[in-house]
Amino acid sequence: MAQSKTMNQPVDLSFCRDEFPAMEMKVNGKPAIFLDGPGGTQVPAPVAEAVADYLLHANANTHGLFATSHRSDELISEARSAVADLLGSAADEIAFGANMTTLNYALSRALGRELKPGDEIVITDLDHEANRGPWLALEEKGVVVKSVRVDPDKLVLDWDDLESKVGRKTRVLAIGFASNALGTVNDVKRASALAKKFGAFSVVDAVHAAPHLPIDVRDIGCDFLLCSAYKFFGPHIGILYGRAEVFDKLRTYKLRPQDDHRPHRVETGTLCHEGIAGTTPAVEFIATLGRKAAEAAGRKVPKGRRAALVAGMEAIQSYEDELAGKLRDGLRAIPGTRVFSAPEGTLRTPTVSSTYQKMRSEDMAKALGRAGIFVWDGDFYATTLVYDRLDLGARGGLLRMGLAPYNTEDEVERTLDAVERLVR
Ligand SMILES: Cc1ncc(COP(=O)(O)O)c(C=O)c1O
Repeated sequence: MAQSKTMNQPVDLSFCRDEFPAMEMKVNGKPAIFLDGPGGTQVPAPVAEAVADYLLHANANTHGLFATSHRSDELISEARSAVADLLGSAADEIAFGANMTTLNYALSRALGRELKPGDEIVITDLDHEANRGPWLALEEKGVVVKSVRVDPDKLVLDWDDLESKVGRKTRVLAIGFASNALGTVNDVKRASALAKKFGAFSVVDAVHAAPHLPIDVRDIGCDFLLCSAYKFFGPHIGILYGRAEVFDKLRTYKLRPQDDHRPHRVETGTLCHEGIAGTTPAVEFIATLGRKAAEAAGRKVPKGRRAALVAGMEAIQSYEDELAGKLRDGLRAIPGTRVFSAPEGTLRTPTVSSTYQKMRSEDMAKALGRAGIFVWDGDFYATTLVYDRLDLGARGGLLRMGLAPYNTEDEVERTLDAVERLVR
């Protein structure tokens, strides 16, 4: 795979493409283009190998007195350390679960035990329902849930509205790090500081941010942060970071024999061990990108995995940002296209959503799918935003293209050509 013709290349594209066997896929004779990353990225071969290796050579339940169980304990512990390096936390602040949604329900139920009627929770209209539904469910206890509006023109959160809604009665502020529908990145550090000022818990949904930008939970200052490994090159598992002091006090619903210490107190039942085992190589893949980026730029190769991960995420961010600019500009130049994106200068992920005068999003996605271009259509569970606030029901919601470090400039050009032919 050739390097880009015109782009600055912080990501080693040949390495990236070679690592992902899915890049070989063809649809109707044409090479597949994976722009479906916001729904879950492809995985590098070592991730799939680690999953298979776990099932074939280490398959057991935890804390047993025999080899496969010891190995299971080790692999889970290694994955906690890897994710801790990715998020900037300690390993014992990282819990695993089925997915982000399930973990967030567990979190909301646990925090809900501390709330009384009249207490308030602040959520946002920009968020995926996974960071709204679990909090709205607490209305049945008499808790008041307020949702922060989105500026419908700028497609960013209305901070005046947020600041007017967070106050003395607020007990939880639940906010997304980045919108999975629009790519808008929120200032979660500022939000967490505001929550702290009023003694409220801050909960950050980083599912859409984690594949695209470096995360440092200490710097953000949040109490909880959630993400999902399948969005950053890993298997289908969810991750919850809980700040040690609050995690220790979190009264989760748990079984009597279950370990009561963090992070285990939220990990009900047997976890997906093979998914957890596959998470470590997903994190290692990002670290490798970081080391390669430093080497290629003639900088000192970062010492330690955390530094390599930060360098890796910065390389990914820089590469994806430039590619997303080309995609946005190219789509905007196609007559009858509307691109839904926050203004230039706003921090955004490389997730580009659009609508078309001539065709509904569903029909566009179907036609592109037949051409081997994988994109999502609809609301992607950002239901409040897409259907209630942007009122895009009649258009079939948005057409969403999401970039990953394995995507190329050539793929973006082919996608733009295909879109142009469809709506011409
Ligand atoms: C921003 C965001 N939050 C939450 C979720 C839910 O994640 P999970 O599938 O792990 O429950 C998604 C999934 O698309 C998402 O994009």
